[in-house]
Amino acid sequence: MQPRSIASVVPAPQFKEGGGFIVHRPFPTGQLDHVDPFLLLDEMGPVTYGVGEAVGAPDHPHRGFETVTYLLEGGMQHRDSAGHAGGLRPGDVQWMTAGEGVVHSEMPSDAMMREGGNMHGFQIWVNLPRADKMTHPRYQEIPGERIPVWRSADGRVTAKVISGQVESIRAVIETHTPIVFLHLILEPGASFTQPIEAGFNAFAFVFEGALALDGERRSAPAHAAVIYRPDGDAVTIRAADGDRPVQALLLAGKPIGEPVARYGPFVMNTRDELVQAFEDFHAGRMGHIPAEVTH
Ligand code: CO
Repeated sequence: MQPRSIASVVPAPQFKEGGGFIVHRPFPTGQLDHVDPFLLLDEMGPVTYGVGEAVGAPDHPHRGFETVTYLLEGGMQHRDSAGHAGGLRPGDVQWMTAGEGVVHSEMPSDAMMREGGNMHGFQIWVNLPRADKMTHPRYQEIPGERIPVWRSADGRVTAKVISGQVESIRAVIETHTPIVFLHLILEPGASFTQPIEAGFNAFAFVFEGALALDGERRSAPAHAAVIYRPDGDAVTIRAADGDRPVQALLLAGKPIGEPVARYGPFVMNTRDELVQAFEDFHAGRMGHIPAEVTH
């Protein structure tokens, strides 16, 4: 296998999202709009909330793509305009296909709101091809214990296979276009090689410890994305030496290759389709979340 070279190391500055929660975001920024088919990567936190301090993203719409939420610490609850509601615990994944449109809220769990605590996780936006942008909304909610886990023979590398495949370990989540989404945990100095199809875009996001790059001549610190050139058929991730395990996400996907017209929570192919999305949302055609029933 021919390992891909590194195009760039992109820092993830902090932004405030939704009701004021802190995210580290490598893209979209002024420097990097998207990594086709990935439209956004937000590392939520890590943050420690005090009693009554936890914040989330109250009612808002989406159309034209998928939101993927992967929680590492804390608890979240969500509700939507189709009457769907659920919770996320550490290790759980919610892969939501917004398609033609949903209005949803993504909030800390009641326990987090009451008692505070640590919150850490990810939200990734995956684009949909033109043919699927107006598909019916769909949820894939996978509890952590159903995410398949691959381990290296020497036990020094663990990969949680959220999407795609590592050797014979295949993910349970279905995607519209081919996507690889792995959570890697590497002992210091350990390395991992994943075959990546020619033509797919690929990047890693390190969030604990550091990755050694280019034969250890340089490194990528926590909260940075490593973008690979499409010049090989594999990506090799190497943990820097140290005294703690290194954690990173590895994402790869087949580029959709269509125009991206985006504004806020809508991602379409043309400006006219964005205008239509705003009109449909304001006319209530994406629905609304019913008021909470109190007992
Ligand atoms: Co949302």
